[in-house]
This record gives sequence, C-alpha cells and structure tokens, in this order.
Amino acid sequence: MHSQVKVIEHPLIQHKLTLMRKAETTTTTFRVLLKEISLLLTYEITRDLPLKYEQIKTPLAPMNAPVIALDKKLVIVSIQRAGQGILDGILELIPSATVGHIGLYRDPKTLIPVEYYFKVPQDIDQRDVLVVDPMLATGNSAVAAVERVKSTNPMSIKFLCILAAPEGIEHFTEVHPDIPLYTTAIDDHLDENGYIIPGLGDAGDRLFGTI
Ligand code: URA
Repeated sequence: MHSQVKVIEHPLIQHKLTLMRKAETTTTTFRVLLKEISLLLTYEITRDLPLKYEQIKTPLAPMNAPVIALDKKLVIVSIQRAGQGILDGILELIPSATVGHIGLYRDPKTLIPVEYYFKVPQDIDQRDVLVVDPMLATGNSAVAAVERVKSTNPMSIKFLCILAAPEGIEHFTEVHPDIPLYTTAIDDHLDENGYIIPGLGDAGDRLFGTI
C-alpha cells in the first residue's frame, strides 16, 4: 500500500459503512450514516491540527488551555453532488470552515470528468484544503478535482473519501503522489460501468433519493 493512503478502520466506521452498503437502507438512513461516518473521519484526519495556549478562567481557577491554532480556517472542497453528504458532517465539527464546490459529471461513455462549476474562497492560497467525495472509483473525478484545486495554490491538500476501488487508488497515487488520501475501506474492483464492487451503489442517488 502507498504510504500516502490511510485506511481508517475504526469499528464504528466499519459498522456504519456496512449499514450504508445494504440495498434495503433508505435514503433517510443513508444520509444519517454518511454524516456520522464523516464526523468520525473528521476526528481522525484533524489529529495533526496545531494547538496554541490561551489564558482562560474556569469557575474555579485560571488556566493556560489549548485551542486550535489556525490563523486561517480550513477550506472543504466538495465534489458535487455526493460530496455534499461528507461536507455536512465535517461542517458540524468544524463550523468555521469555508467551503468550495466543484461540479464534475462523469461522461457515462468515457467516464471522463467534465467540469461545469468551480467556486472556492479567494484566499484559498493561504488555507489548507480538504477535497471530499464519498466514492473513489476510477479516480478520474478526484484526480481532476485535486488538479484544479492545486492550480489555486493552497497551503496543503488532503483527499477524503469513504470507499475506494484499487483502480482509483492506483490512478490517484500515480498522478498525485504528494496528496494524502484517506478512506474507510478499499473494495474489490470496478465493474464495466465504473461502479465499485461490492460498493454501495451510486452514492449521489442513494443520498438524494434519485434512484
Ligand atoms: N460513484 C458512485 O457513486 N458509486 C460507484 O460505485 C462509483 C462511482
């Protein structure tokens, strides 16, 4: 496994992912589970955030207490449309993060991503960026999204997904060996339509009930 790839295998995450995979899981439950997994992932991937100390008063005594030392906030760049499900979870834990959106659709024949929307904060070059999409299938969308974000010159970039295919990981790590990639599971393979097997189906459809 490439050292830039980190599989976060917390039992709670694995359990919730299994529930998400089940064909009978409703859109309402799928949405809740994706948000919960995103919260747990955020906890893991923010471990290296720097701390500083500030003087506070508890009801009983003064104290030098730790707070996160971010001069500039994080930017979460969500790959539309399924990225929205992860974004909601992250924003619950980091409400001060700013948000970028990248709209890419997969051409169903070529599976090549086509960009139709891109909007990020103007000062992204002074910020750390987290690019999010639940599924890393062929890797085409993630590769293109990170390429586009790189062109805005941010301080750092991490890519976060829930489920990855080996093909997507190969593709992503080959093009972006400098970008840490976080996932909660690596599945078996892609089918001829670019779906992850066994996977969980189309994450966007399951999230928005457009099946
Ligand atoms: N996108 C999805 O939503 N699901 C897959 O299996 C592959 C790409």
